[in-house]
Amino acid sequence: MKIICRCEDITEEEIVQKINEGYHTMDDLKRILRVTMGLCQGKGCRKHIAKILSRELNIPIKDVVQPTYRPPVKPIPINATVDKE
Ligand code: FES
Repeated sequence: MKIICRCEDITEEEIVQKINEGYHTMDDLKRILRVTMGLCQGKGCRKHIAKILSRELNIPIKDVVQPTYRPPVKPIPINATVDKE
């Protein structure tokens, strides 16, 4: 068992199973398995998942469409939300 997405605890076998079920894009896998949606926002797994998609679908890795990057959520102090006037 090889864990690919450590944030969401998703294995290579789970990813390959979903690809074989018809989920053929990073966005499909993101929606069904939550890969790339963990704390690191895909920094730890995105390239590995692209390689798996490339291998399983027999397409060049450059043709694997990457999901949209979202800015990371950062905590702010509660008083930053209070009107100070
Ligand atoms: S390792 Fe996949 S979201 Fe962090």
